[in-house]
Amino acid sequence: MLQQMHELERRDETDRNNGTSRLDRLRQIPPETGRFLALWAASAPEGIVIEIGTSAGYSALWLVLACRATGRTLTTFEVLPQKVALARETFSRAGVNDVIRLVEGDVLDHADEIERVGFCFLDAEKEAYEACYDLVVPRLVPGGLLIADNAINHRETLQPMLDAALVDERVDALIATVGTGELVCRKRT
Ligand SMILES: C[S@@+](CC[C@H](N)C(=O)[O-])C[C@H]1O[C@@H](n2cnc3c(N)ncnc32)[C@H](O)[C@@H]1O
Repeated sequence: MLQQMHELERRDETDRNNGTSRLDRLRQIPPETGRFLALWAASAPEGIVIEIGTSAGYSALWLVLACRATGRTLTTFEVLPQKVALARETFSRAGVNDVIRLVEGDVLDHADEIERVGFCFLDAEKEAYEACYDLVVPRLVPGGLLIADNAINHRETLQPMLDAALVDERVDALIATVGTGELVCRKRT
């Protein structure tokens, strides 16, 4: 698994510097965000663990560490077939298929599969964040966590959603200055 993580880190860095198109880039989280996610996911209450936006599976591998530690399974959603293929390769090579369910398609078409969420990592297209937030928050268990990436580097695009989350009475929320900025929401009990 570590070897797969390092390979994806190298590929992501190369992609960012060699003019690879946005569609083809992996656009994955930095390692410090991975550690942050794994720590929170391992501390999440009972409930399903999901990820929205798999890409090649790098952040999913961090979440798998937490799932293994807590005896859970990760369900991760990816809409682009070419990214699904990359993720399948990553998960097979890393030997983690026993703890991962990769769902191909737009997460918004899979709302009926999302119930009793203990932990959700949101890292999809920024234009979809608001709809994903509205999908996940009502389905969080008490104490359940939603963490959304890019709260600082895409602040302008995400501002309406961030403003709404920070005053949403259903959750306690803050923006952590980790990586590209993480919105952390905890469902009130
Ligand atoms: C920033 S990348 C995810 C990177 C990944 N979380 C990582 O750190 O390794 C965003 C991914 O979300 C996918 N995506 C965007 N909107 C989606 C949606 N509505 N449902 C499922 N996947 C989506 C994109 O195709 C893209 O591969």
